[in-house]
Amino acid sequence: MKIKCLVLINLCICLLNVNGQNAIQITTDNVGLFYRVGDNGRLYQTYVGKKLEHSQDFVHLPNLGEAYIANGMEDFFESAIRVLHGDGNPSLLLKYVSHETKQLQQDVAETVILLRDDKYPVDVKLHFTAYSKEDIIKTHSEITHREKKPITLYNYASSMLHLNAGNYYLTEFSGDWAHEANMSESPLTFGKKVLDTKLGSRANLYCSPFFILSLNESARENSGDVLFGTIGWTGNFRFTFEVDPENKLRIVSGINPFASEYTLQPGETFRTPEFIFTYSSEGKGKASRNFHKWARKFQLKDGEKTRLTLLNNWEATYFNFNEEKLITIMDEAVKLGVDMFLLDDGWFANKYPRGNDRQGLGDWEETKEKLPLGIGKLVEEATKKGIKFGIWIEPEMVNPKSELYEKHKDWVIHLPNRDEYYFRNQLVLDLSNPAVQNFVFGVVDNLMTKYPGIAYFKWDCNSPITNIYSPYLKDKQSHLYIEYVRGLYKVLERIKQKYPDLPMMLCSGGGGRTDYEALKYFTEFWPSDNTNAVERIFIQWGYSYFFPSKSMAAHVTSSGWQSMKFRTDVAMMCKLGFDIRTNNLKPEEQQFCREAVGNFKRLESTLLDGDMYRLASPCESDHAAVMYVEESGKTSVLFTFDIHPRHAERNQPLRLAGLNPKKEYELKEINMMPGARSRLSCNNKKYSGEYLMTVGIPVFSSNHTVSHLIEITEM
Ligand code: GLA
Repeated sequence: MKIKCLVLINLCICLLNVNGQNAIQITTDNVGLFYRVGDNGRLYQTYVGKKLEHSQDFVHLPNLGEAYIANGMEDFFESAIRVLHGDGNPSLLLKYVSHETKQLQQDVAETVILLRDDKYPVDVKLHFTAYSKEDIIKTHSEITHREKKPITLYNYASSMLHLNAGNYYLTEFSGDWAHEANMSESPLTFGKKVLDTKLGSRANLYCSPFFILSLNESARENSGDVLFGTIGWTGNFRFTFEVDPENKLRIVSGINPFASEYTLQPGETFRTPEFIFTYSSEGKGKASRNFHKWARKFQLKDGEKTRLTLLNNWEATYFNFNEEKLITIMDEAVKLGVDMFLLDDGWFANKYPRGNDRQGLGDWEETKEKLPLGIGKLVEEATKKGIKFGIWIEPEMVNPKSELYEKHKDWVIHLPNRDEYYFRNQLVLDLSNPAVQNFVFGVVDNLMTKYPGIAYFKWDCNSPITNIYSPYLKDKQSHLYIEYVRGLYKVLERIKQKYPDLPMMLCSGGGGRTDYEALKYFTEFWPSDNTNAVERIFIQWGYSYFFPSKSMAAHVTSSGWQSMKFRTDVAMMCKLGFDIRTNNLKPEEQQFCREAVGNFKRLESTLLDGDMYRLASPCESDHAAVMYVEESGKTSVLFTFDIHPRHAERNQPLRLAGLNPKKEYELKEINMMPGARSRLSCNNKKYSGEYLMTVGIPVFSSNHTVSHLIEITEM
């Protein structure tokens, strides 16, 4: 009885608060998201944007739209949730019940708002986690019910946001294999724009799971109002942008409900993935830095720890290697000064040895012919040489030409009565099946148990789900896309629990998996199989809007004809690695690479943990420039690239950013080929921060594929 009274009092206080001048406020240092309960008991969003300081004004805020619009009532546009009740009634009307804000840790607070249908026992909880210092808000919903029969969910958004601006400009990120994260901006006018994927096992390939929305005017790097949003879901996602006749915009984000109606049992909770967003009224650069800081501190696995530089053998050998060759490459890694040798695809399977990508996937034992003494010998050799050993796996997949497929066709997603269609000659294992989850976990666990010296995994996933039918789910096929991703997270969680300190790279035929839920389990991702340095400038540029340099692996390879210096400089903008036979390089190139690795390690805290400033866009000129400023401000590194400038092009000085105008800085060009002299007039000179940021320095030329790295030291 006492408890009941307390709950009631609590509830009343909540209602008093929200019905009075105090809206439900979800705020960070610079961003605000406000709700209010209407006289009808329903919840409305009143604001999202730059934090408002004058609380006496909040009462004037108009209702922008219902917080989580349900189907079947009076709204004629995209809804957040669509439900069919057990009795066949297809409507839902959600009313505010209560809300609660909890401090999760310093500067991180979670607000949960409970909504309930007034006729059916269906609850929706809206969760918001606000990261004050990073200006990030994460939101997801939870749907549950106590009806007698199951209900069917047809739509189940993670988030619904309402905006009211004069104009909207949407930047989408699209691409294809080896051509990821291309940006294009277009205005949103009346009607709907949908960004979605149906790839099943990954979010990214043709369309990336993130967007930028500029309000009123197209935002620039350092000016304009902009909302950055992304979804943490390693599968089908959907963002719907709908402009109504009043020019109001709603953004509905979540799992793509395509072919995924979900039967929700009484008492079961359906948790949607997290939609993560930030808002900046100082342009895109600030919004990116918000994401970078938040990711390093809260989301990315080991986001605040250091990273391993490495030499990978994929582009150096492809499938063509044996023990002796690998040991020689390990020697090259030692000479190069990197921390680790990473063995890529091609080391496993015996009945159908993995000599190419048409067979062997699924049979995770060393190929005896190539590696007679197994992985153990390689780990031992690496250890003797003082470097770490990492290994490639692709545990969710199977080639039809494999023992696994022969033994366990019931574990394979395939249609029982049709021919199979392959993507890179392979099929996807059915991760909705707990037995398959055990198998996939076992791929890592068995290797770690047998060879505890393994220090790193590169986890690949080359195929989207094709032939879409789960032998395990039987009559619940519409749950497959969801259960696949849930199954994947269960496996990744088990690995994280058992091997908390194991760094892993997330790869998916290049950048197929680049979402923040997966990145909880991975220290970095592989942005693209395209390692041509010019292409990489654009690809890394695109990803940099959402992901910190620390999360992106970038390798120097022999793809592309640019100089070794240019290729290395491009890779040093992210987490540096090599994927090349360094013994084949000229001696001066080898020396250059060694020195570059040394520079990278010396400057790691600036390059991977510093604030990133995009200074010149390769999409807007024939040059690119990016700068990283270490937290203390003492060290910065400037990267400049001439890509394909016109003959005798006139270049303006480049203005830097992130420095203290009152301080003095010394500039020094680094990462030079042995014996080369700097041609930059700013080399070895001192400037004030004011000069560097207001007047700028000449760094660009009209030569093709020329790059410079300039270390900037506070005096
Ligand atoms: C994918 C990855 C590559 C490489 C190959 C191996 O394409 O993106 O980096 O690991 O698989 O087959």
